[in-house]
Amino acid sequence: MIYLVIRSIRVIHVQVFVLLFFVKFVFQRFYSYFFLRVLRVLRGDLFLFLFIRVRMSLIEIKNLSKVYNTGVVKVQALKNISLCIDSGEFVSIMGPSGSGKSTLMNIIGCLDRPSEGTYLLEGIDIKTLNDNQLSEIRNKRIGFVFQSHNLLPRTNALENVELPLLYAGVSDAKEMAMEALKDVGLENRANHNPAELSGGESQRVAIARSVVTNPAIILADEPTGNLDSQASAEIMKIFLRLNNRGVTIIMVTHEKDIANYSKRIISIKDGEVISDKFF
Ligand SMILES: Nc1ncnc2c1ncn2[C@@H]1O[C@H](COP(=O)(O)OP(=O)(O)O)[C@@H](O)[C@H]1O
Ligand SMILES: [Mg+2]
Repeated sequence: MIYLVIRSIRVIHVQVFVLLFFVKFVFQRFYSYFFLRVLRVLRGDLFLFLFIRVRMSLIEIKNLSKVYNTGVVKVQALKNISLCIDSGEFVSIMGPSGSGKSTLMNIIGCLDRPSEGTYLLEGIDIKTLNDNQLSEIRNKRIGFVFQSHNLLPRTNALENVELPLLYAGVSDAKEMAMEALKDVGLENRANHNPAELSGGESQRVAIARSVVTNPAIILADEPTGNLDSQASAEIMKIFLRLNNRGVTIIMVTHEKDIANYSKRIISIKDGEVISDKFF
């Protein structure tokens, strides 16, 4: 048809003009069709990408082993562990003494590296990170709470909580530290040194110190190990509150009562996961 149209036109310039117009029209149609196709394909990928991002586990451990080489003997502390922990979970790790709980926590907290296997934290293979990058992750993304609170003895509660913020170079450290102390109900103990605090209070200061940087994960290794049942219950209430705010909590404990506060219990024995139950 276009041929007939062009033939019917007598003036050569007009013929060329119509031909060019036709080519432009076809090209535009093709171009927009092509563009839509690309967009559609990309949109699929975009959805897939977002889906994967949303579904990506916070912690993904695959076939992880840890061998301590003490020179004389080799201790296999973890054997072929595979597990995933999603953002927002509250997990307990249980097991007898020497079963590898602390070793696993140290690896999850980037304090130690696995001997074999992979550990992805927020999708990043920690094998690919150097020591500086690991310490940055520890400082920004992870809060640690240990059995013994590890507070600096001649430093008051407020200054102890302030410390990680000073490392991170935060300017309004004092205000943030005070907020964190308030959050664990200890604003009136801000000026007290650890020796003037009870075990439970010291542990609450340690929790304030671990959350003051707003970490995604709290790793607590036997946080109530030295506490009576009432102080333990208070610590667990604080953890529950943090977990309700979206903080992922991974806690090692010997005590079933304490583990029952969490929503998932992973049991390990001789360096292997023997059960993994959700509640
Ligand atoms: N730094 C280390 N060097 C050598 N062996 C270690 C070290 N840390 C832990 N172990 C050994 O690894 C095993 C697991 O220890 P650990 O993870 O501390 O267990 P748990 O916390 O369950 O009590 C134990 O046999 C322990 O003696
Ligand atoms: Mg331990």
